[in-house]
Parts: sequence; structure tokens; C-alpha cells
Amino acid sequence: MKVTVIGTGFVGVVSAAVYASFGHEVMGLDIDEHKIKLLEQGEVPFYESGLKELLLEQQATGKLHFTTSYEKAIGQAEIIIIAVGTPSAADETADLRYVLASAKSLAPHLTEDAIVVIKSTVPPGTLEKVIATIQAQTNVTFHGASMPEFLREGSAVHDTLHPDRIVIGADNEFVFTKLTELHSALQAPIVRCKVASAQMAKYTANAYLATRITFINEIANLCEKNGADINEVIEAIGYDQRIGKHYWYPGLGYGGSCFPKDVKELAAYSRSVGEDGNLLNRINEINKERIFRLLTKFGQEIGGFEHKTVALLGLSFKPNTDDMREAPSTKIIPYLSSQGAQVLSYDPMATYQNQEHDAHEQKNTIQEACSEADVIMAVVEWPEITGFDFTQVKANKKQFFIDARNQFDRQIIEAAGYTYLAIGKR
Ligand SMILES: NC(=O)c1ccc[n+]([C@@H]2O[C@H](COP(=O)([O-])OP(=O)(O)OC[C@H]3O[C@@H](n4cnc5c(N)ncnc54)[C@H](O)[C@@H]3O)[C@@H](O)[C@H]2O)c1
Repeated sequence: MKVTVIGTGFVGVVSAAVYASFGHEVMGLDIDEHKIKLLEQGEVPFYESGLKELLLEQQATGKLHFTTSYEKAIGQAEIIIIAVGTPSAADETADLRYVLASAKSLAPHLTEDAIVVIKSTVPPGTLEKVIATIQAQTNVTFHGASMPEFLREGSAVHDTLHPDRIVIGADNEFVFTKLTELHSALQAPIVRCKVASAQMAKYTANAYLATRITFINEIANLCEKNGADINEVIEAIGYDQRIGKHYWYPGLGYGGSCFPKDVKELAAYSRSVGEDGNLLNRINEINKERIFRLLTKFGQEIGGFEHKTVALLGLSFKPNTDDMREAPSTKIIPYLSSQGAQVLSYDPMATYQNQEHDAHEQKNTIQEACSEADVIMAVVEWPEITGFDFTQVKANKKQFFIDARNQFDRQIIEAAGYTYLAIGKR
């Protein structure tokens, strides 16, 4: 099949390379010339494990190409997949400007019976707007569909090659058949549903996972009041099959390019349809407050951050990615600077761009960040950080160790001479 993927960000590049690996002829399209130039040379503009290898492999077969030309990319395509960004607008609704701009740009080049698929995360009602935008410019008969993406950054190639399911939202058999055929190389179950159900399914999945994180953080707050240990509570509840031991992450709250945005957008959607009291509005607020609540609490426990040197371990929003969107570090560094601390950070992949008032320097090794620190704050569970031997960097002074992801053994850290602080345990 001839497939065009519009938007060569995390989702677009991975999807394009994986569709090419299924044997389809794929064109990746972006308005960012620099990105396209890099991709044409086999360079991925961000870090994602295994992606560069897959990209080079597919480019070598001649099945995968990149362009900035809508004319070139749309004229031949049977299936056009929109995978551009959908950031939150100031009022927290989904900002559809990139989706609608791509619809406007593709319209003049569309061929008969082409299928325009929205893969970007968008609220119900968006496909209708895309269709109206295209119809305003062409009389060609085309079809619309929604096919949300569920990959996780850090394991995006694996997730796309081995998805839990493919969700196809459409309203006619031709589209279901073609999009099922697009994925015929996969073993994954295919969920055929209404367009609105597909769009809701994507938001619901992320909103549920974010709610799970918020829920356990709320319980962690209570554990801190009574001497319970959140990890023990998680183990005890996890034996219940309805609950399970997986996906409990007490910590600084959820971050990243998707959860905060998708919860905000679904909460804003709830308000737009008169459901102002929807739970997600509160989840969103709790998560926004959480990191500052914890930093304030830790500050009190260590006698204030002023004049302290803090080693911040982990800058990206989670391990195995260099993505800094809504990463805890982007809030922690300005906060600690405002409190009069000096921050020395370390991350194996990500880079923090200093803001005007940041007292921050990024170091090349964990040793360099930690050796003179008053406080070590471990916020991302990169294996290099969780596996590090902190006895190596213990200075001959009082030092606090804030285990913000509950990844370390209290006894080992205390035996090394640190004062240990964690989440959901005294
Ligand atoms: N990143 C994830 O982990 C993830 C997972 C699932 C779903 N999603 C959703 O997928 C969508 C894309 O996310 P992403 O992280 O890949 O975004 P991204 O910001 O990394 O990439 C978006 C790309 O779209 C390009 N673009 C913008 N306007 C364009 C236009 N008019 N024509 C062509 N290209 C254009 C940008 O230049 C950019 O390269 C979003 O809706 C997101 O919510 C993301």
C-alpha cells in the first residue's frame, strides 16, 4: 500500500518506519526542513531505542522516504495518516491548529478514494472538522478515520511492532478493510469501532493511567502521616487480581508529552460538554500541585534549600528517552533556584536548557553532580542511576538522599551515611 505519514515526530517517524517494515511504500512528510534533511540522511532527530537501525534498514530497501512536499507525498497516497502534534491550548483544550493545517495542505493533492486517518490524539468532533476543511477545497471523494496511537516513548519501536491492539474508528466497511490490511503483518487484535469511540479510547487509556498514578500518590500522602510504607501497601493490594501489582508509581506526579496534556484536554472537553464536575478536572489540579507540595515538604525536612547544592539525577520525563516535555526537572530546577539552591544535574541522554534565573549546571557524570552535594535527588529511574553505588560519592559531611521514585534500598543508603527521604514512607 502507498502510505503517507504527516508529521515526523516520535509517533510519525516510528509509524513510518514500522509501516515500511510491513512492506508498504511509505513517505514521511513534515514542514520542518531540518528534521526532514536529517531523516533523509538516516538520522533520527531524537533518541528512541532501535529506531535509527530500523530507519536505515527501511531506507535501504527503498520503501521509506521523507519529504517536505505535500504535492509529492499526497498525490500517490492511498492512506494518509495525520500524526502531527496536538498540544494543549491556553484554555487546556486540544490545540488542533496543526491537524487542521495539515488537512488544509493535503486537500488540493488528494486522490479519489484516499483515506485520511487521524493518528494524533484528538477529541471527538475533530474528524468532522478535518473532513470539512478538506471538502472546502476539493470535490474528490475521500474517507476519514481515527486510528489513535498507544506507543510509549522509550519502547516505541517494540510497542508499534507488538501492539496490544489496533483501534480503528470508522464508519464504513471499505475503510475498516483497508486499515485492517495495513496492519495485516501484525498478530494484534483489531478493535473496530465508531470514530468517537476510538478518540475516547485514547484519552481514556492515558487518563486512567494518570489517575492510577495520582491515586497512589494520594495514598502515599496518607502513609506519610501514619508510618505505613507505600511499597508495602502496593505489594499487599497487588495480590488482588482486580488491582494487580503493575503500574504503581508513587512519585512526583505524572509528566511527559502525553499524560499531562491528555488529562488536561479530556478535562477541558468535559467542561465543554457541561460535565464540569468530572473527576479528571481534579486529577489535573492535584498533579499540577503535587511536585511543589513535595518540594516544599522535602525542603522543610532538610532545613530549607537555601545555600544547598542539590545533585539532580535524571532530567528527562522518564528513563530511555531524551524527551523533556513536562519532565519533573523543568519544574524542579526553577523551583530550587528560586529557593537559593545551586543545582548540579546529570542525565544519560537529556539536556536541560537553562532559563534566565536558573542556578543550574549540567554535569557529565553522576560523580561530578554528587561529590559535593548537600542533597542528592534521584528523580528518574535510569538504570545507570538506580544501579549506581552511592557509597563512592559520599562526602565527609551531612548529606540528604531524596529517593523521589522509591528506587533505592533505605538500609544501603543509610549505611553509606546519607539521611534518606522517600515517597509515602517516613
Ligand atoms: N509522543 C508519544 O509518546 C505519543 C504517543 C501516543 C500518541 N501521541 C500523539 O501523537 C501526536 C504526535 O505526537 P508526537 O509526540 O509525535 O509529536 P511531535 O511534536 O514529536 O511531532 C509532531 C511533528 O508534526 C510536525 N508538523 C506540525 N505541523 C505540521 C504540518 N502542518 N504538516 C506537516 N508536519 C507538521 C512537526 O514539525 C513535528 O515534527 C500527538 O497528538 C500526541 O498526543 C504521542
